Amino acid sequence: MTDIQLVELTVNGERHELAIPPRRTLADVLRHDLGLTGTHVGCEHGICGACTVLVDDAPARACLLFAVQVENAAIRTVESLSGPDGGLSDLQQCFGEHHGLQCGFCTPGFLMLAEGYLAEEPDASREEIREVVASNLCRCTGYQTIVDAVEDCAGRRRAALQSALDSAPQHATQSAPQSALDGASA
Ligand code: FES
Ligand code: FES
Repeated sequence: MTDIQLVELTVNGERHELAIPPRRTLADVLRHDLGLTGTHVGCEHGICGACTVLVDDAPARACLLFAVQVENAAIRTVESLSGPDGGLSDLQQCFGEHHGLQCGFCTPGFLMLAEGYLAEEPDASREEIREVVASNLCRCTGYQTIVDAVEDCAGRRRAALQSALDSAPQHATQSAPQSALDGASA
């Protein structure tokens, strides 16, 4: 029986070929094989959420997954949040502005939890955000500032979407024949 397996993983849009033991966790592969150390490891028992990444857009505990289990999935780590120029994402900016981090150890997990959740529930209420955020552990912030940051980011995204919709050309006006418009104004 071989104790090494060939695995192909797609992480942050990049394909990687790895030869790893079948029981190597996704968290260990990300950190030690791919050098993506933004994913933190705390409890290694699925409790703290520090290792949260997105697997096919859904938040998942990387310490509870074997890498071989997610071979055909799209994995995103906290490193994927920043733009090509290295700038912070809107969510990261909100964490900074609301002081949603102190020691920062839990922060990548909260960011990926919130990133996945807001994509799924863009209209989430503060109460719903509180409930989701409670699934990860933070010893420093008291959670209020994390909730503030996620709520603010959700509001900014909704406002940006509304503004894009408001500034989009009116379909009816654009597609209506000139004769109809002339008739309407007569
Ligand atoms: S390290 Fe994965 S949940 Fe704590
Ligand atoms: S900021 Fe330190 S554990 Fe959350």
